[in-house]
Amino acid sequence: MPRLCSLLTAATLCGLSSSFEYNTFDGEGHPSCYNVTAVYDARSVGEIADLVKDAARKGLQVRAGGKGHMWYDTQCSDDETVIIRTEYVNNIWDLDLDAGTVMVEAGVTFFQLAEYLHDNGANIGTGLVNWNISLGGSIAMGAHRTSLREDAVVVGGVLALDLIDGKGKIQHIERDESDDDWLAASTSLGLLGIIVKIKLRVFPETKVWAMQKTLDEDDVLDGDIYGMISPYLTANLWWWPYKRKFHWRYYDSVPVDESNQEGFQSTFSVTELEAVAARTLLDSGKYLPSSNWLMEEIFFGLWNKPNFHDKSTDKEITEWPVYGYNYDVLIGGLYPDQKPEWDYDLRGYTLELAFPVARANEMLKRVRKLFDAEAARLIFMTSTYRSGINIKFSKPHYDFLGQATYDTVDGQDWSKGTIMFDFPSYRPTVGDQKRYNEQFFTKRSTTNGVESCTV
Ligand SMILES: Cc1cc2nc3c(=O)[nH]c(=O)nc-3n(C[C@H](O)[C@H](O)[C@H](O)COP(=O)(O)OP(=O)(O)OC[C@H]3O[C@@H](n4cnc5c(N)ncnc54)[C@H](O)[C@@H]3O)c2cc1C
Ligand SMILES: *[C@@H]1O[C@H](CO)[C@@H](O)[C@H](O)[C@H]1NC(C)=O
Ligand SMILES: *[C@@H]1O[C@H](CO)[C@@H](O)[C@H](O)[C@H]1NC(C)=O
Repeated sequence: MPRLCSLLTAATLCGLSSSFEYNTFDGEGHPSCYNVTAVYDARSVGEIADLVKDAARKGLQVRAGGKGHMWYDTQCSDDETVIIRTEYVNNIWDLDLDAGTVMVEAGVTFFQLAEYLHDNGANIGTGLVNWNISLGGSIAMGAHRTSLREDAVVVGGVLALDLIDGKGKIQHIERDESDDDWLAASTSLGLLGIIVKIKLRVFPETKVWAMQKTLDEDDVLDGDIYGMISPYLTANLWWWPYKRKFHWRYYDSVPVDESNQEGFQSTFSVTELEAVAARTLLDSGKYLPSSNWLMEEIFFGLWNKPNFHDKSTDKEITEWPVYGYNYDVLIGGLYPDQKPEWDYDLRGYTLELAFPVARANEMLKRVRKLFDAEAARLIFMTSTYRSGINIKFSKPHYDFLGQATYDTVDGQDWSKGTIMFDFPSYRPTVGDQKRYNEQFFTKRSTTNGVESCTV
């Protein structure tokens, strides 16, 4: 009987309207598109081309769908749209370690690629972000790691792209900074068509070492921020505004035989017990600021310790520095028997803004002033995210729409790179799901909401 009812309901709704909402990986209640008429799980590049041609004939919009890890509803226009998912278009071939190249299809995830490369004695250097996100989606959105010394944007490692244009034709674009097609395609926000094939640069496998120190807020606000980040393979800061502290994390390569340790990082793993405790306290923080203060204290304490386990024994690693293979240390994944925090309804909003790194101190001091202005009203700004406020960096990368581009009309000096201020905060599961002091965030958000970050 229930089954019959739901069939009838579906039929009735279909009669009224044939379009529906498409959600991010967070599922129901987290739409990324509002007017979707069909979602296809394509199985090959040829099938994607056919689907695009068909949609073009019907006058429908087309958007690619990767793993749905976007945070906000920036994927589609309001017109009727067909979504073509790339998850099952995920071949990897032609690894050539001597030439330093590999071919991948757009649906390949970092997780999948890293495993394949590691098994073959290679890695993708610093052009990597989170583990279960597609290469196509990351290149389209200008996703990035954090480094001033090395390429930080994923597209920094791309040598050529094939994308399917609005007519269903394959366009091959080689990396060439004097070519407008390349400059547009290298961060397209998915608007030029569906990226299907990517030629990537790869490197021989290395080991990496990770180190972290705790600093007083003033040591960063008045410090040589460029000098703290630029010497390293990858480095970043995490800000704990209530405690007035920073964590400073930095990584570099070491010879493969320098250490036997095989550290494996996890940013998102939680046990059920931890998750339920965190959710209860964080939800109460919607109404009670003292819960947020306490939460920042707890998160800070947890983040002080290495968020690494030994890869083979799953035992906690308790001391810095930590050593391990490139991908395991820079990204890692989930610990066995734990789940990502979002599987326990721990989700965030975020606000990410980019500034020239040449003005890093000025920007952070300005933010401190804004926080202090709240404190004057007895509202103490806290971080309700497990790793604090993310302060990331990117070496300059020239393209038309990327965050780390330069030679912009604003006349600012972006040539030394970009500092990104990424303020994630807990999204309450109770009431209207707005945060304590919500107006602070809405006031500040000329939201560049397409991404956030944690690595
Ligand atoms: C917990 C978390 C941590 C994150 N950490 C980082 C981080 O460290 N650094 C960072 O930069 N970002 C980070 N992100 C953001 C993430 O990198 C981007 O949202 C990325 O675009 C997601 O890729 P996806 O495969 O899930 O794509 P989707 O979310 O499915 O799609 C994102 C957009 O890209 C378009 N798109 C997808 N595939 C293609 C394609 N093949 N061709 C053309 N357009 C396409 C889609 O139409 C859509 O507009 C994080 C996100 C989350 C949720
Ligand atoms: C969907 O798009 C069509 C036009 O393409 C428009 O007429 C309709 O109002 C839209 N529906 C929604 C829910 O936005
Ligand atoms: C990756 O994401 C898919 C959903 O797209 C999910 O089914 C799978 O379990 C995830 N894998 C890992 C290792 O998290």
